[in-house]
Amino acid sequence: MKRDPGLDAGREQELARLSFDDAPKIVSDFLPGPQSMSLIEAEVENETNTRVIPNVLPVVWDQAKGATVRDPDGNCFIDLTAGIAVNNVGHCHPRVLETINKQSQLLMHNPDATNPWRVKLGQKLQQLAPGNLKGNAKLAFGLSGSSAVEIATKFARSATGKTHIIAFEGAYHGTLGATLSLTTSQQFRSTYGPFNPYVYHVGPYAYCYRCPWDLEHPKCGLECARYIEHLILSPSTGIDSDCVAAMIVEPVQAEGGYVHPPAGFLEALKKTCEKAGILYIDDEVQAGMGRTGKMFAIEHEGVTPDLVTLGKALGGDLPCSAVIVEKSIAENLSPISHIITAVGNATTCAVACTNIDLIQDGLLERTEKLGSYTVQVLKEMMEDIELIGDVRGRGLMIGIELVRNRETKEPIDLGEMMQILWALRDKGVLMLSCGRHNNVFRMMPPLVITRKQLEKSLEIIGDVFKQVQEDILK
Ligand SMILES: Cc1ncc(COP(=O)(O)O)c(C=O)c1O
Repeated sequence: MKRDPGLDAGREQELARLSFDDAPKIVSDFLPGPQSMSLIEAEVENETNTRVIPNVLPVVWDQAKGATVRDPDGNCFIDLTAGIAVNNVGHCHPRVLETINKQSQLLMHNPDATNPWRVKLGQKLQQLAPGNLKGNAKLAFGLSGSSAVEIATKFARSATGKTHIIAFEGAYHGTLGATLSLTTSQQFRSTYGPFNPYVYHVGPYAYCYRCPWDLEHPKCGLECARYIEHLILSPSTGIDSDCVAAMIVEPVQAEGGYVHPPAGFLEALKKTCEKAGILYIDDEVQAGMGRTGKMFAIEHEGVTPDLVTLGKALGGDLPCSAVIVEKSIAENLSPISHIITAVGNATTCAVACTNIDLIQDGLLERTEKLGSYTVQVLKEMMEDIELIGDVRGRGLMIGIELVRNRETKEPIDLGEMMQILWALRDKGVLMLSCGRHNNVFRMMPPLVITRKQLEKSLEIIGDVFKQVQEDILK
């Protein structure tokens, strides 16, 4: 029995106008269609073979609007990727385009100099900052999620005079320099070492579906958080907490599998950090900017971090990232010691301000409602789709973990995951996977996706899963 998410009908119509109205529509006999294929072939000639997206989900993006994408062959897709959690307000939102049109006539690049929109964005982020950081922070701007994480860890080291950063098993914080050293996925670490030796990886992150001790929350009493505290505070564990500047934590592990920790986990980590004199960096690059139904995912837990990293949906269609640093920590930084040439671009900052206004205009509440509705529909699907081992989510950050066997939780393999992604694409739905075993489908649509578009996508997902499970489970 489906529960009505209780959305406003007028608002749904308004949101529908943001997207192409013909999605999903597939006109090519096979995908990628001929025009797309010739572009893909030309690109392969020019670019390195290291890229992930064109291999995992070969689609040429020609136009995008709201929650939809069109390829050069005229195929139109519903975008459940939001450009990897970037287009929270949708693609090419008319107010974003208006902002770009107006501001780009006046000023775009400024060499990390003062401009009115940068000031305004700083003021907005001060007001939005989670918990006690509100109005009690200093900001630094970056260009990408990775650059925000680089800045946050660099500042934490400098402000404390300590060397090490603690990161988690399953963490993803970027793929460049210091951030790749924090990321654990072997796929991305690949042959790119040597890594920064000043990193301690700890675990487990609270991944209840795959608890290494087979415990159940809340009966477990958060054994994982207790164990992390043991690793950090006990002698002879190999971690010298006196050397640790900060612990960096995703409030929801994103690339690690859309793993939502249970209530109390983040709070327990923060308490451990306080006991050990370690700063807490909240990496909101993927989970932030309304994705979980609150501006920052950590707000669900009422925890105040010491630093926050933002990226992706902050800038949306234009790249922008930021670090929020608690004021007294920022006061320890050396004056005139940090610059990135292109940060604080006036047009980008203006767009980030527009994005924030759009998210604050009723999208948070709607995301929460639409998210719980979607989780419920997916859980109902589990009744006749054996392949689905787990459904978890908050807001529109939903993971669907696919397994060959619900008892053993044996994950489906990479080939099977790609088969499903391509089958979804062939029916007009764009989705990406994630997870330690690459077997978690993530639903991260633009927050402006309509209920109708979402229901159509769920219908297609159900059909494709049923169709492929016959092969996979036999
Ligand atoms: C939590 C988190 N941190 C950092 C990053 C790196 O962001 P970017 O790819 O913009 O450098 C990502 C990217 O997916 C992320 O999910």
